[in-house]
Amino acid sequence: MAEVCSIADLRDSARRRIPRAIFEYADHGSYNEATLRANRADLDAIGLRQRVLIDVSDRTLATTLVGEAATMPVAIAPTGLTGLFHRDGEIEGALAAEEFGIPFCLSTMSICSIEDVRAAASKPFWFQLYVMRDRGFAASLIERAKAAECSALVLTLDLQIQGQRHRDLKNGLTVPPKLTLANALDIARRPGWALSVLRGKRRTFGNLAERVPGGDSLTTLSQWIAGQFDPSLSWKDVDWVRSLWPGKLILKGVLDEEDAKIAASCGADAVVVSNHGGRQLDGARSSISALPRVVDAAGGRLEILFDGGVLSGQDVLKALALGAKGCLIGKAFLYGLAAGGRGGVLQALDIIRRELDVSMALTGTRSVQDVDNRVIAHP
Ligand code: GLV
Repeated sequence: MAEVCSIADLRDSARRRIPRAIFEYADHGSYNEATLRANRADLDAIGLRQRVLIDVSDRTLATTLVGEAATMPVAIAPTGLTGLFHRDGEIEGALAAEEFGIPFCLSTMSICSIEDVRAAASKPFWFQLYVMRDRGFAASLIERAKAAECSALVLTLDLQIQGQRHRDLKNGLTVPPKLTLANALDIARRPGWALSVLRGKRRTFGNLAERVPGGDSLTTLSQWIAGQFDPSLSWKDVDWVRSLWPGKLILKGVLDEEDAKIAASCGADAVVVSNHGGRQLDGARSSISALPRVVDAAGGRLEILFDGGVLSGQDVLKALALGAKGCLIGKAFLYGLAAGGRGGVLQALDIIRRELDVSMALTGTRSVQDVDNRVIAHP
């Protein structure tokens, strides 16, 4: 294989290895993808200041994320269907994060269950929760996360109703999934993926399977899920989750300063500034342009995490400079996973680590703790 230098190389490799419907589920956004593009364009538009003759021989990327030590200011984002990108993908991701020394967040919509990952992992991981119509089910997921000793609960706020992703409709990755002729041919061209993923622990939503009658079928479960997103979700539900979960609580999907102010007074430990990777409200502002506003509104009362288009160490540096304590990576993680399983995820993390380290040095910065808007050109 050609030299892998960047996340873009891992993306190319992922595209060749896995069925198109699955690759495009990760790669695309909602509607016209204006927000997806803005996430990237606005990060690219930020300039960094080149500084010279500052002794940067001794550098450190070590930090803490919601109080947990991390070897760099990055965590693996919760992503749906991860176990379809690679056999037992959630377990591979958790083990890669463990080896690298950063947090891993498991999605409610994962293929491997909380218990599957708990059994394989030796360190606590984060669990991402969707509060669905069936509140009893949400409460049971919180109990399962407690039993698995998850170290943080990440409550997603921005998917109370689903934005439409055209690629998923066209590819038959719908509710229920459609096995089109094109899909079948595409899968047939990737026998390595099919043989491997189909031999994995599970092939359906692991956290939901036992709850739903007929839950061993991806189709039945997908139908159940579609009816379960709850547009009535409100801040009262956040209070309810807070009352059930005594550990670290991270609210994901805060993009607006008004919401950040409310979040700061509801007992959460952190927020993730996020537009769901451009997968929900198309037309929402880019995550990076929202970040400084959320930081201001939170007024030091919340730890600020960031996601939305982070594909390099330079992107991480820019987010830190604008006030984030750390970044979550979704797409970069899935490209690495699809390209090479646990090794591919480690490769993705190492690429980002090296880019962040070199960019810090070239901006005259020794420690991630020292990064602020002085590294930005014309802040
Ligand atoms: C799920 O959270 C998704 O964005 O597909």
